[in-house]
Amino acid sequence: MNMIHPLCISYRYFLLLLIKILLLHTAFPKFASARVPLTACRSYCGNLTIDYPFALRPGCGHAGFRNLLFCVNGILMLHIPSGSYRVLDIDYAYHGLTLHDPTMSDCYTLDRSPNGRGNGFVVEPWRAVFLQPDRDNIFMLLGCRSESPLFQGFPTKHLPCRSIVSGMSCDDYYRCPAWDEAGARSSAYGNSNPPECCAVEPAAVRSLNISHLQCEGYSSAYNVAPLRPPGPGVWTYGLRLSYSLPENNEGFCGSCRSTGGVCGYDQVTHDDVCICGDWNSTSNCDSLGLTAMASTTEISLSLANLAAYGLFMVWWIYQF
Ligand SMILES: *[C@@H]1O[C@H](CO)[C@@H](O)[C@H](O)[C@H]1NC(C)=O
Ligand SMILES: *[C@@H]1O[C@H](CO)[C@@H](O)[C@H](O)[C@H]1NC(C)=O
Ligand SMILES: *[C@@H]1O[C@H](CO)[C@@H](O)[C@H](O)[C@H]1NC(C)=O
Repeated sequence: MNMIHPLCISYRYFLLLLIKILLLHTAFPKFASARVPLTACRSYCGNLTIDYPFALRPGCGHAGFRNLLFCVNGILMLHIPSGSYRVLDIDYAYHGLTLHDPTMSDCYTLDRSPNGRGNGFVVEPWRAVFLQPDRDNIFMLLGCRSESPLFQGFPTKHLPCRSIVSGMSCDDYYRCPAWDEAGARSSAYGNSNPPECCAVEPAAVRSLNISHLQCEGYSSAYNVAPLRPPGPGVWTYGLRLSYSLPENNEGFCGSCRSTGGVCGYDQVTHDDVCICGDWNSTSNCDSLGLTAMASTTEISLSLANLAAYGLFMVWWIYQF
């Protein structure tokens, strides 16, 4: 009779349990739900939080905003072909960005030069779908020459200059102290000479290149208050941008986050990537949508581990 001692059975089950635990934790460590700290891609600059779709680290954020923000001595700067701007605010709820251009005119100073003063606003063509001036932003182009592309066909064709943009106008702007010393000013929409100030809607000008438009300078103001701004003295001067993401991004990112990942992008292909700790997925951290070659090697290693543990387990069982 070959009686199996009850203690021996429980010992065997204990071993099986141990092996099972080992298997779960060592053979498939990469495929368990990731718990990437949110700070993996989130950062701070001064008192501004830099979060998705923006990032300071390459590979973090959305590819549409790559090589865009830089933190210089606690000051967040935005670099686009027309120049560098200080970022005053990022409004994640309304997808807005507020910039300051020190070379632009405001209610107290007219900053103009024959060669054009101020950066204006020009983004890379590929970035234009992600970042554009907000509809609530008025651009006031100052002292543009009659040869300017703005006035092509003038005076027979209509000027692109608008009388009112988002409740603001050049006629309001002329009431600013900055114009007191400037003396003569032409009507904002006169028909004999190009106006001293030409207000344009963001949608009308895809790119606001001050020197290309042959203007002497510009001013920009925006209105985020629900009420019409009462006067140019209380307008907010600066550039208000709005940012947008492709429609399918929300689903991708939501699924990535819900599995403990952090949204990023592939630095070579610029495709969306879900960062799952020490591996990256093209979908989310619960699936095997692996990206890099390195990850394929990791699967092979895991399978080798699995086989080794299987053999080990069989060996142990036949020991008794
Ligand atoms: C951030 O700091 C600037 C001054 O550096 C200040 O004007 C602004 O109000 C601060 N913003 C917040 C949200 O604290
Ligand atoms: C995952 O993607 C991030 C962002 O592109 C990158 O920094 C990191 O090296 C990638 N990790 C792996 C394991 O490929
Ligand atoms: C603006 O226009 C000028 C003149 O056409 C051109 O030389 C310059 O490269 C343009 N700047 C940008 C940022 O496109």
